[in-house]
Amino acid sequence: MIKELFSLKTVCLNEAEDAVVILDQTLLPEKEEYVLLTAEQEIWDAIYKLKVRGAPAIGIAAAYGLYICSRRIVANSFDPFYLEFCRIKTYLSGARPTAVNLMAALNRMDKKVLLNKEKSIDEIKLILLQEAYAIRDEDARACRQIGENCLSFFKPGMGILTHCNAGHLAVSEYGTALAPIYLGQERGYNFKVFADETRPLLQGARLTAYELQRAGVDVTLICDNMVASVMQKGWIQAVVVGCDRIAANGDVANKIGTLGVAVLAHYYGIPFYVLGPTSTIDKHCPDGNSIVIEERDPEEVTTMWYGRRMAPENIKVYNPAFDITPRKLITATITEKGIY
Ligand code: MRU
Repeated sequence: MIKELFSLKTVCLNEAEDAVVILDQTLLPEKEEYVLLTAEQEIWDAIYKLKVRGAPAIGIAAAYGLYICSRRIVANSFDPFYLEFCRIKTYLSGARPTAVNLMAALNRMDKKVLLNKEKSIDEIKLILLQEAYAIRDEDARACRQIGENCLSFFKPGMGILTHCNAGHLAVSEYGTALAPIYLGQERGYNFKVFADETRPLLQGARLTAYELQRAGVDVTLICDNMVASVMQKGWIQAVVVGCDRIAANGDVANKIGTLGVAVLAHYYGIPFYVLGPTSTIDKHCPDGNSIVIEERDPEEVTTMWYGRRMAPENIKVYNPAFDITPRKLITATITEKGIY
């Protein structure tokens, strides 16, 4: 069953069609539909509208996107090629501000171009292709290792709560927060997982509940305001969440609502684990206060996933997509390289 789930590819490259192919996550769980993205505006839009989402998946999509757009640049020498390359890179990097993986992946591609500026334009394009694949493959290896590192904390039968979606759909493969759950599932741990619905965009309900159920994991969906209650009942022995940016001091930006879960876990003495690849660490960002929090369309709160509008017209709405969990609420941050 896990194999079947992993046969869904969140983001990949179709070299023959010169396209980034994504599983459109806004259509899940009803429809599994792949979309081909070729124009730079389509790639930007897919990232902005969360058709492809989750910090590592955004980075991979942007790297593939930058490659296919660069492949189309017509230039005989390095300078005009690089000018156009930088324009596309800047454009794609503006799609979402909080997940550092987006900028990190694009910067990696940029570095490769500069390192190889003496080579021909065709050779540089090939190097960009290899780098985009390397970003994807490194993420897949990192996710599996994050899962192994975290599983060392877990015992069979535990109740585990997660927020948003940091699973297979958010990365190349396995996920970050969900990686230990999949590894445990393969080894007969029989975890009981609780997925917060994650208002307003419902990544927990639409995506986490969907992928865990598809993998045969025992998963129960709860509304965000039920977290305290299930913790009070003693059903949760650990919390696992992903991350969009880890500041140098250990503060973490993740999906809005993560901070509330961390505060509750602290109150109930439940370990709170943040799982993410080292590519999510931003050593240039001193602390959580320096992280730019994306603010999104009010319509996501008032109407989007409801059948009809659920708030008065012209109501003032505050819709931050992420919040900051201070390091003192985090029991451990788990990367592919170790446990901090
Ligand atoms: O707005 P989203 O759905 O992209 O937010 C996703 C999250 O907050 C995830 O927890 C994070 O990106 C880690 S994904 C492995």
